[in-house]
Amino acid sequence: MIAASALDLRRQVALLSGSDSWNTEPLPEDGVPSCALSDGPHGLRFQADAGDHLGVSGSEASTCFPTAVTVASAWDEELAERIGRALAVEARALGVDVVLGPGLNIKRHPLCGRNFEYFSEDPLLSGRLAAAMVHGLQRHGVGACLKHFAVNNQESHRFVVDAVVDERTLRELYLAGFEHAVKESRPWTVMAAYNSVNGHPATQNRRLLTEILRGEWGFDGLVMSDWAATNDRVAAVAAGLDLEMPGSNGLFDRDVLKAVESGRLPAGLVQASAQRVLDLVERSGREKGPSADHDALARSAAAEGTVLLTNDGLLPLAPGRTVALIGAFAERPRYQGSGSSLVNPTRITTALDEFRRRGIAVTYAPGYDPADSHHDPALIAEAVAAASAADVAVVMAGLPPVYESEGFDRTDLGLPGQHDELIAAVCAANPRTVVALSNGAPVLMPWKDAPAAILECYLGGQASGAALVDVLYGDAEPGGRLAETFPASLDDVAAGPWFPGEPHQVEYREGLAVGYRHHTTAGIAPLFAFGHGLSYTTFAWSDVTGDRGSVTLTVTNTGTRAGADVVQVYLHDRTGVVARPRRSLAGYAKVRLAAGQSTTVTVAVPERAYAFYDVTAGDWRTPAGEFDLEIARSSTDVVATVTVTVSDGVTAAAEPAGTPLIAATDEQFRRRLGRPVPQPRPVRPFTRDSTLDEVAATRLGRLFKAALWRAAPIDEATRANPAELAMYEHSLAELPLRAAAIFSGGKLRWGTIDLLLRLFNGFGGRRG
Ligand code: BGC
Repeated sequence: MIAASALDLRRQVALLSGSDSWNTEPLPEDGVPSCALSDGPHGLRFQADAGDHLGVSGSEASTCFPTAVTVASAWDEELAERIGRALAVEARALGVDVVLGPGLNIKRHPLCGRNFEYFSEDPLLSGRLAAAMVHGLQRHGVGACLKHFAVNNQESHRFVVDAVVDERTLRELYLAGFEHAVKESRPWTVMAAYNSVNGHPATQNRRLLTEILRGEWGFDGLVMSDWAATNDRVAAVAAGLDLEMPGSNGLFDRDVLKAVESGRLPAGLVQASAQRVLDLVERSGREKGPSADHDALARSAAAEGTVLLTNDGLLPLAPGRTVALIGAFAERPRYQGSGSSLVNPTRITTALDEFRRRGIAVTYAPGYDPADSHHDPALIAEAVAAASAADVAVVMAGLPPVYESEGFDRTDLGLPGQHDELIAAVCAANPRTVVALSNGAPVLMPWKDAPAAILECYLGGQASGAALVDVLYGDAEPGGRLAETFPASLDDVAAGPWFPGEPHQVEYREGLAVGYRHHTTAGIAPLFAFGHGLSYTTFAWSDVTGDRGSVTLTVTNTGTRAGADVVQVYLHDRTGVVARPRRSLAGYAKVRLAAGQSTTVTVAVPERAYAFYDVTAGDWRTPAGEFDLEIARSSTDVVATVTVTVSDGVTAAAEPAGTPLIAATDEQFRRRLGRPVPQPRPVRPFTRDSTLDEVAATRLGRLFKAALWRAAPIDEATRANPAELAMYEHSLAELPLRAAAIFSGGKLRWGTIDLLLRLFNGFGGRRG
């Protein structure tokens, strides 16, 4: 492959933007082919033609694996790697070189609309699972893309919001998973997020992209932008953003050329980025391979990620009982989320299909409308009648697609009222009721104690219906443990008052008080704890020993069936040196045992688990003193404790023990930030960064927004799909003008945008 140094500046610059939605720019005269990118993360969304980036136009059929939230619940790196490998096989069959995933943003708040696409609220678990998936892909010749780097923890205003977060929280919570995955699995690419971080767009954040990612972590791959996240292209190159995606028809090329010619941008930086594009192309050039059928893997993965939340012994179901199968998800399953990750599945097996295939007679009652679940007492009455007449009722409930999606956040934690009423009524009619939930993030369960068993199936991919029936009858074990906290109330989420923040600024004042870190510190009982999950068998833990580097114990399957257990080790810092959450995950191990089998399990505790990020030193430090390693079944169920003494640690920290984790007041937040709390960027005057909704405060802006809406690729199918339509509406409303220019495929040039801006700000800027 030609070296970037052998290309003239114009061709180097050309390499720095995609040629369309999914390919890098080829240079045929120099023998440089393009590299094909495709979403990700739980299946391929390969669009052979120009396509779109929000999943509204069709894509080639691919296996739809369980979404990240389901995979994470399996706590199983081997499984994540197997899925990665299967994705690589399918990618190579389609000629895809890089899969845009995994996504590993932290679930700061349970209402983030895209939580289904992320692993966990915990960075250790997220980082390990992401690394495993990257290994699965890259060991089989297909590149991965860690996304969205960084602090992209909400959908609201994602294109323009500035995440204001202190350095320690950034390092310990929001970067730690990326750090682990980068160092451990050496991903080919990383995707810079839409949002800003501490005043600088992630795409032009030199500190993140160059100093931390490359300098500190040794990342040697390519950084690409999220789709149309580019703002100031020159600043982006200077910051270390190599590739702008999608292609913007040369929108920014002149800026970059001029900046180099005038000496404002060092030519060496352009050359280095062009070289990284060439390196990616070089790494990619694989032969196409045969595809394979991965439905069975998707099916077993869905069961592995299913969490048995409660069970009075009804599950697994004894064969021969009559079943009332209730809930429209039984025939119209909710198995993935809307947005850029939407996969066109190779097939779908519904629960109803699987019951029928097994020859099990079920009475089916839909119970609700699967699209919007509006109030409908007649559907509940029909379901109650079916449940009363059967031995057992299985209610499939959850969140309809319009409740959670890329592009917008949820507004409350509840299920649709119709689902809550349905569950309560069915349980009252038949106490032998199993509730199986399909949702991408935590929900409230006001009826929690009524069913005999609750299964959290999450969004289980194309075979989720079959997997549910496998689990119900015990052909597969629900192997999951929650990778996130289910709060009992929205009030218990520490980030609540600052989520999703102002359109231009979100303040991470809760600091490290996220998920179970907050619940365990504040002593708040969750609805279901991080790490919780029952099994169809029972396990005994004994002979616990440990030292600074690991904990060892004997795990025995004391039941009569094979099963999987997850040993979790939490760190409790008792040194009194530094303010810390009461518990943080320090290690875990998943173990599978036959009935009666026993094994020795060693859980490694990395040195990093003890350390905190010392902002004064700009490095990680371990406090001196005593730590408890808590060996636990969940973040609230500690079985044994090993005490470790660190004598070679530090004895002072900027935030000593006793400092509240939540910086509620301006003064506390200012102190933690080490600078005044910034003011959000003003809405006026309008700039290229202004959103369509913002400029729509003017008459001309309204007309402009309406014209773009008319030009959007919204067909009848989208119009008839409330989730897709909602995603489009939100995305368009929040789209900044610069992104509209990028997406316009060359129709909107800067001259037009800047002229419009003058009008919006001047004559056309009159309110009304
Ligand atoms: C999403 C990315 C995705 C990209 C391309 C963006 O809107 O945030 O996750 O990879 O589109 O579809």
